[in-house]
Amino acid sequence: MLLRFRALGALAALALAFTTSALRAQSTEDKTPLGKKMSAMNAAFRTIGQQVADSSKNASTLEQVTIFETNAKEALAFEPEKKAQIESAGQEKFVADFRAGLQKLIDTAAKLHEAVAAGKNADAAAIVEQMRTMQRESHQVFRIRRPPPPGM
Ligand code: HEM
Repeated sequence: MLLRFRALGALAALALAFTTSALRAQSTEDKTPLGKKMSAMNAAFRTIGQQVADSSKNASTLEQVTIFETNAKEALAFEPEKKAQIESAGQEKFVADFRAGLQKLIDTAAKLHEAVAAGKNADAAAIVEQMRTMQRESHQVFRIRRPPPPGM
C-alpha cells in the first residue's frame, strides 16, 4: 500500500515537471515576431546595463548597443498584438504611436552609441536610465498585460 502511494507520488511529481517544462517551452514558441525582437533587445540591454559604467568594457558594450539598435529597427516592421483590442477607429493611431515610441527609443540608442564610442561613460549610464523609463512607460500603453505562466 505504502509502495503504491510512493509510486503515485513519483508519478505526480513527474507529471508536474513535464507540464512545467512544456509550458516553459510553449512560452518561448508563443512569442510574436515583435516579442522575439523585444527579447533580443532585452538580452542586449541587460548586458549594456551591467557594464555601461565600466569603460574597460566599452568595445563589448558597443557590440551590444549595435545588436540592440538592429533589433529595435527591425521591430518597426511589426505591430503590437494589443492592436486587436483597440476599437477599429483608433487602431491606426495606436500603431503610429507605437512606431513613434520605438523611433524615439532608436534615436536614444544612437545617442547611447555615440556616448560609449566617445568614452563618456557617465553620460552613457544616464541614457540607459532614460531608456529604462521609455521601456516601462511604453509597455504600459502598448503591451498586453498577462500573468506569468506557472513556475516562472
Ligand atoms: C529598453 C527598451 C525595451 C526593452 C528591453 C523591451 C523588452 C521587451 C520584452 C522582454 C518583451 C516581452 C517579449 C516576449 O517575451 O514576448 C517586450 C514586449 C513588448 N514591447 Fe518592449 N522593450 C523595450 C521598449 C519598448 C518600446 C519603446 C515599445 C513601444 C514603443 C515596446 C513595445 C512592446 C510591445 C508592444 C510588446 C509586446 C509584443 C507584441 O505585442 O507582440 N517595447 N518588450
